Amino acid sequence: MSFRLFEEKHHASLYQKYRLSPAREVKELILKYLEEKKGPPHELAVDLGCGTGQNTRLLAPHFQKVLGIDVSECQVEEARVVPGFTNITYSAGPAEELPVPDGSVDLLTAASAAHWFDGKRFLKEADRVLKPRGCMALFGYADNFTLNYGSCGDRLSNIYEELKRTLQPYTSTQVAVSNSKLQDLYEAIPYPDKERIEVIPVKEEVTVGNTVGLLETYSTFQAFHRADPQAAASLLESTMTTFLKEMGVSSPDTKLELRLEYFCVLACKPQ
Ligand SMILES: C[S@@+](CC[C@H](N)C(=O)[O-])C[C@H]1O[C@@H](n2cnc3c(N)ncnc32)[C@H](O)[C@@H]1O
Repeated sequence: MSFRLFEEKHHASLYQKYRLSPAREVKELILKYLEEKKGPPHELAVDLGCGTGQNTRLLAPHFQKVLGIDVSECQVEEARVVPGFTNITYSAGPAEELPVPDGSVDLLTAASAAHWFDGKRFLKEADRVLKPRGCMALFGYADNFTLNYGSCGDRLSNIYEELKRTLQPYTSTQVAVSNSKLQDLYEAIPYPDKERIEVIPVKEEVTVGNTVGLLETYSTFQAFHRADPQAAASLLESTMTTFLKEMGVSSPDTKLELRLEYFCVLACKPQ
């Protein structure tokens, strides 16, 4: 079964605008792992659940070809309109049935996406498509952000925690899988050569507008929006207003510091 919670055009355009590009620290960790375990050539990387392509584009300079796959046609359409990445192809389809030959992939990635996959079918498909010594990197970030701006960081983080409580009833079971840092999926990987890094601390500078926009991309927020569009719109508005008030600024372009914790599951297919 596929979860189809990212299908709408509006949701896809929010993704293009507000999703964070994966942190440099995470990209470097993955490329170092691939280098150590497999080494060159780096012919093909496949980014699963690519959404609007933030992670796919980061991979482009490091591989001859990169394929971005997402089950949502709208997400893939948004990804395709970003110019300047001639070695990337996007395709709509499930991570459990990949349009690539056996033993052809150097690196498989999934950024904030593997919790939506059918774990058993995905791992079987990953094993089919990976080259010997090919690697997979499944990562995401915990929802325990902290926000910092001058001396009002704690108050901003409290506003975010309050928002999380409002969205709690709209949380899909798959979000709990992500919050477990993919523990069950990690345990199910049949390769002896695997590791799970539970905390990779990262700091990002983002505007208040982007922070609120990022919250809007969450599947939980979108579920709330479907249930009660007016309440969802006023939650966003009041979150923005309260952030700005606490910070003592008027522009949503004001930057604050977002601290987040990535996790990453890494595995290497045996020879
Ligand atoms: C939370 S988004 C992450 C998107 C992007 N990787 C990012 O980091 O912003 C999850 C994405 O996984 C896709 N997805 C969910 N189930 C999928 C499946 N079985 N196969 C491929 N993509 C899937 C959704 O359509 C959605 O675009």
